[in-house]
Amino acid sequence: RHKVTIQTLRDKVEKGQKITMITGYDYPMALLEERAGIDIILVGDSLGMTVLGYDSTLPVEMDIMLEHAKAVRRGAPTAYVIGDMPYMSYQVSVEEAVRNAGLYMKAGMDAVKLEGGRNVADVIAALTKATIPVMGHLGLTPQSIAMLGGFKAQGRDIGAAEALIADAKALEEAGAVSILLEAVPPEVAKIITERANIPIISIGAGPNCHGQLLIVHDMLGFFDAFTPKFVKKYADLNKIILDALGQYVQDVESGTFPAEEHFYKMPKESLASFQE
Ligand code: KIV
Ligand code: NA
Repeated sequence: RHKVTIQTLRDKVEKGQKITMITGYDYPMALLEERAGIDIILVGDSLGMTVLGYDSTLPVEMDIMLEHAKAVRRGAPTAYVIGDMPYMSYQVSVEEAVRNAGLYMKAGMDAVKLEGGRNVADVIAALTKATIPVMGHLGLTPQSIAMLGGFKAQGRDIGAAEALIADAKALEEAGAVSILLEAVPPEVAKIITERANIPIISIGAGPNCHGQLLIVHDMLGFFDAFTPKFVKKYADLNKIILDALGQYVQDVESGTFPAEEHFYKMPKESLASFQE
């Protein structure tokens, strides 16, 4: 297929077609996501939890993200790939934010994503000025776990809902090319989407956005720690893999593996003289 660009995404919105987005962290999964025709792959700092086993996204560093971003790009040459700015890669100063986001662009990303509302508008404006497209991220923002007091839905009272709507406007005015809404009520997401001139993507924000995102390990049943309410499970990879591993253990212990077909054979003449 042709390279998916920001224009491709805008055209989908224009035509009322839904945008498909999923996280991707490595080469083999990116290959499949590309083959499945996914529009946007997010190299999310959620990899800190899904791949590295931390209990939050806070420990994830920029150099780790870049390595994964490059692997995803190798597997998915035409997808719109977004590099997620990890904790403290854009909070300290605008200069550091531009430098780190620039590393993602040099690694072949189409855009970067960062969390926050009006408090990050200046960062988004600076990245935009530096020709780095930014996806905003509002609602449940996992990097502020210590402020939010847990992974829970956001924007559920009038004050919080109005703040989200104002934040979305501020991100767009700062230059954001799209916005991700995480774990907010569908009514709030609907208003934001109707008022936006940029694609609005939902992860747990209901059906009224321009597209949907799921964390690939959640939807494949490849992550055990917990499953948010907004996840639909399309497979049970844990079971498939566990069955295979258990079978392997049994086969080796019982001597069923390896069998004839897994051996390398010597030619008959060599074998005969070898065994003399
Ligand atoms: O890191 C990530 O995968 C994300 C999604 C949860 C939105 O930011
Ligand atoms: Na993230």
